[in-house]
Amino acid sequence: MAHVFQPFDLERIMSRWENVVEYNLSESGVHPVTLAELAAYDSTLVQRMLEIELGYGVANGSLALREAIAQWYPGTTPDNVLVTVGCAEANFLVFTTLLQAGDSVAIQVPNYLQGWGLAHNLGAVRMTFRLDPDRGWALDEEQLRQAVTDATKLVAVCNPNNPTGHIMTLAEMDAVVRVAERRGAWLLTDEVYAGAERETDTFTPTFYGRYDRVLAAGSLSKAYGLPGLRIGWVVGPVEMIDQLWARHEYLSISTAKLSNHLLAPIALSRQVRPALLDRTRQYIRRGWSVFEAWADEHADVVSVVPPQAAAIAFPRYHLAIDSITLTDRLIHDASVLVAPGDHFGIPHHLRVSYGLEHAYLREGLNRIAAVLRRTAEEKGTASKVADAAI
Ligand SMILES: Cc1ncc(COP(=O)(O)O)c(C=O)c1O
Repeated sequence: MAHVFQPFDLERIMSRWENVVEYNLSESGVHPVTLAELAAYDSTLVQRMLEIELGYGVANGSLALREAIAQWYPGTTPDNVLVTVGCAEANFLVFTTLLQAGDSVAIQVPNYLQGWGLAHNLGAVRMTFRLDPDRGWALDEEQLRQAVTDATKLVAVCNPNNPTGHIMTLAEMDAVVRVAERRGAWLLTDEVYAGAERETDTFTPTFYGRYDRVLAAGSLSKAYGLPGLRIGWVVGPVEMIDQLWARHEYLSISTAKLSNHLLAPIALSRQVRPALLDRTRQYIRRGWSVFEAWADEHADVVSVVPPQAAAIAFPRYHLAIDSITLTDRLIHDASVLVAPGDHFGIPHHLRVSYGLEHAYLREGLNRIAAVLRRTAEEKGTASKVADAAI
């Protein structure tokens, strides 16, 4: 049977529309940091930028950057770190290194479905386990146990979770580790939203160090507000990092030198990192109050579990329309982009970003409400959510 390529639906809709619509509420990070904001932390930065030679950066990440990353992962050295083009490359390398056709992978749902599509394109067998919407997106441990078998090579989670903002309890983390360990499976933990907590200033703990086959991925894109630097990383055992690096050489060789050698080490330094995380949390906390008031006002058509982290809410809507058609209406009737729940594996939900400037956020939300109300009049309401999309 011919193997049909599965595109990454979420990124396709975003790259097609995010620069076309008037209100982009599809991003999962906060309003980005400017270069001037970064330069304000380091008076020598501009001069050093002017003087830097724009050759290739160190392929696996400059020593300064790998040191800056390793300091935040207890028990690691720079040899445990590979610097990648965003967390997207880190995830790509892990999936393509660990999975071959016929191998089994267990993937948490809802999720950023990069791994879901990659696994299909590699010919792997995909199993899922879910976060349960009826229990505030808590981990369904029974499903987890069923999804991980002797054939499982890889278990993949995203914590804090995209799109729900759920942060696993330590008991949930232990359950994930136990299940992977029992089968000797690798555990990929996408921790790109760690540091973007809404209710606490405690940085979400990493899975790294809880089991010897953990690969913890992260980046500067979300919690640090610096997606344009295109800097991500994966932290893991040295031999596995070397295998990932061997694939990185095929794919991207190295990250951009300005980011790799100059800007990213500053962002992750002991002085600057806390300020960037604080900035992100302020955006999230202030934006949430706007979003929450909006959701309360429209409680007859939307309901939401308050997210614990990330600049995104994942409201369920009570309308008789699927999420892809509804998103399409929002684009064409209101010039607003959000992300449809089906692209995270959950129907009848939308992912809406709120870590934005308030006037922009308010107008985007007003436009969404107008479309929801028109749709309710036309199509009626629906209280039952269809079964999981995947
Ligand atoms: C969970 C998750 N992982 C990885 C990425 C990719 O991020 P980047 O490559 O910008 O680090 C995203 C982006 O939205 C994401 O939500």
